Amino acid sequence: MILITGGAGYIGGHTAINFLNAGYDLVIFDSLETGHIETIETLKQIGNVSFIKGDLRHPDDLEKLFSEYKIDAVIHFAAFSLVGESVFNPAKYYRNNTYGTINLLDAMIEHDVKKIVFSSTCATYGEPEYTPIDEKHPQNPINPYGASKLMVEKIMADYDAAYGLKSIKLRYFNVAGCDEKIRIGEWHNPETHLIPNILKSTFTGGQTFKIFGNDYNTPDGTCIRDYVNVEDLAEAHRLALEYLNRENKSDVFNLGTEQGDSVKNIFDTCEKVLGTEIPVEIAPRRAGDPAKLYADATKAQTVLGWKPERSIEQSIKTAYDWECNLQKIIKDTD
Ligand SMILES: NC(=O)c1ccc[n+]([C@@H]2O[C@H](COP(=O)([O-])OP(=O)(O)OC[C@H]3O[C@@H](n4cnc5c(N)ncnc54)[C@H](O)[C@@H]3O)[C@@H](O)[C@H]2O)c1
Repeated sequence: MILITGGAGYIGGHTAINFLNAGYDLVIFDSLETGHIETIETLKQIGNVSFIKGDLRHPDDLEKLFSEYKIDAVIHFAAFSLVGESVFNPAKYYRNNTYGTINLLDAMIEHDVKKIVFSSTCATYGEPEYTPIDEKHPQNPINPYGASKLMVEKIMADYDAAYGLKSIKLRYFNVAGCDEKIRIGEWHNPETHLIPNILKSTFTGGQTFKIFGNDYNTPDGTCIRDYVNVEDLAEAHRLALEYLNRENKSDVFNLGTEQGDSVKNIFDTCEKVLGTEIPVEIAPRRAGDPAKLYADATKAQTVLGWKPERSIEQSIKTAYDWECNLQKIIKDTD
């Protein structure tokens, strides 16, 4: 049985679908603080899923979980991930993302579970010194969120050396899109990600979408990011676990498409996919936004055999269809 922490959330939920389709039995552990019980209900219709509501910050919840289920490996998503919030409330991030993960690792050691795949982030790199960013790029995070994740990476290396706990750290770049059957999707509140926010602006009575800065040193002046489809990303987790089972060694991989898309390009593609004009204005730059962030993901391709397959158009199309569903869910629960 595989434990997925944070499986009621966006990426954890999609990864759960991938694992269920491959025939795995799952137990999901989630506090539902930013995740949704509706995601769990959907997952239960797809395959064998048990759900435990619990919190990583409470060691007793973890003890109960590990005592009740015979867990073979852990896929660890549970965390907070609002970069801005982490700057004014760092304690919340270090407590949950770092201390919470230590609790999880300790419970694993206690119950002799020695394999974990961890959601890390390109935010551990900080300001890029070069692009595309490979795994050897220096890690100097510029916010507590990135630092809370980098600390976990380091703790995992120490837990390997001391206790033989093997970990795969996956450093995601930007994640987009949703399940092609539109059963689950991105459901953050507040939403800080570009694509859902462009799409949301079409539901709010012609509210103007803001592009922050068009004077960066990039071909069209707007920031460049690397958008990987969430179903492709989910697949990488299964490949990572299979690699861990096969090789029994710790490693780290970037997950991105290696294709930088500018904000303007994403915006134009949204208009094209939706077949409508979206009101837009140029606003001043935001502090701390690097001009270009995109991955060198050669290592994941060659070592894990991972290949992102879905286009940015597909990501935007599924994200839009999901957003239509979400607007209905929100209206019905109001
Ligand atoms: N979304 C992105 O673009 C992106 C990029 C890089 C890294 N990540 C990382 O991927 C992971 C998943 O991100 P997401 O976008 O799916 O976020 P999400 O908020 O949708 O999911 C996180 C889930 O973890 C749960 N959770 C949080 N703290 C918990 C705790 N203490 N105990 C139990 N459950 C807890 C939440 O309830 C939620 O269901 C996070 O670790 C995030 O840092 C996300």
